[in-house]
Amino acid sequence: MQIAERMQGVTGSAIRELFKLLGDPAIISFGGGNPAKECFPKEEIRNIADELLRDKADILLQYGATEGYLPLRKAYIEKILPDLGLSAELDNVLALTGSMQGLDLICKAVINPGDVILVEEPSFLGALQTFRVAQAKLVPVPLHTDGIHVDELEAIVEEYRPVMFYTIPTFQNPTSWISGIEARKAIARLAAEYDMLVIEDDPYAALRFGGEKLPTIKSFDTSDNVILLSSFSKTISPGLRVALCCGNKELIRKLTIAKQGSDTHSPNLNQAIIAEYLNRDLLPSHIKEISAVYANSAKIMTDSMEKYFPEWVHYEKPIGGLFIWCTLPDGWDAAELFKRAVERKVAFVTGAPFFVTPGKGNNTFRLNFSAEPEARIRQGIQTIGELLHEMNAERK
Ligand SMILES: Cc1ncc(COP(=O)(O)O)c(C=O)c1O
Repeated sequence: MQIAERMQGVTGSAIRELFKLLGDPAIISFGGGNPAKECFPKEEIRNIADELLRDKADILLQYGATEGYLPLRKAYIEKILPDLGLSAELDNVLALTGSMQGLDLICKAVINPGDVILVEEPSFLGALQTFRVAQAKLVPVPLHTDGIHVDELEAIVEEYRPVMFYTIPTFQNPTSWISGIEARKAIARLAAEYDMLVIEDDPYAALRFGGEKLPTIKSFDTSDNVILLSSFSKTISPGLRVALCCGNKELIRKLTIAKQGSDTHSPNLNQAIIAEYLNRDLLPSHIKEISAVYANSAKIMTDSMEKYFPEWVHYEKPIGGLFIWCTLPDGWDAAELFKRAVERKVAFVTGAPFFVTPGKGNNTFRLNFSAEPEARIRQGIQTIGELLHEMNAERK
């Protein structure tokens, strides 16, 4: 059987592989990017779904428009975009089956094999995989604890003339780091100067529990070269698979055509649930509630890290998002730590797959703090801490 060239050398996501382990309830997992199941607005969604199926079943159970369920697109324009400093017309927005689909459609519409895509290093595994399947050449832009450094980005853009730059400016995956306002302005400027498409992937910005809210890159976009991906996976439910994007009308049209050949349209019922959720103004208070939950989980995790981790493990305390990024001293192998941790029923994700540069990031790993209850966070961090001490003693 032939396998297409585009699939060669593309391995499954390390996290997807990890999901297989999660079938074992004894495993304490800091691996995925899952919201806490206690944070799903189950009652509201059940009520909304009941009402929708009572009142609108004939529309919602039928085929729908590829562009998306109209009330959802309108609710996005009216309830979400203004808070991000944005206004849009209907033709600027497309509903997506998760923002992952947005990445895939953008590649289908924009990327030819060999085209250069700039990615933050480290970056989100799902995006890296999608870009690789599109046969793009991935060029890393170093990410720092204070986000993208404009001088570095500008030099790389000048050298490589990329078709696209993929960035997660707020509470980045895997680091939770933030690019500041100057970087955001500069990214929008470079998009205009070099006619470079910028994908601003923004699933975590709402999950803020410290610091000041920052304007989107899209809000500085004078050339219409920035496309914003907005997902409800982390704020409402990832299982509903509802996201939207906002961008250039011509590009949105091309993405819509690509979507026709992908899944025809996103499930109507799921889109309608999110539309109703937004129109009933349930989201702001829900976000407030879950941000407080995540602030608490993050604190329990960092308190435990302070207590149990050796002082030479480097990490920043997060003020939003779902992750803590850890760096061990040079020469350490996070894969060995992972192997031992899984034997002791604790899982996380090793950092190397988030890097594009071969051999980089072997001493890094990512912890997710949102998916486990307090006692298991403490227990899991204690186990990792013990393993770090144990491995350090062996090195001497
Ligand atoms: C940066 C980033 N983008 C996109 C996604 C996927 O979002 P969705 O569930 O909307 O496809 C994730 C999920 O982990 C993510 O971390």
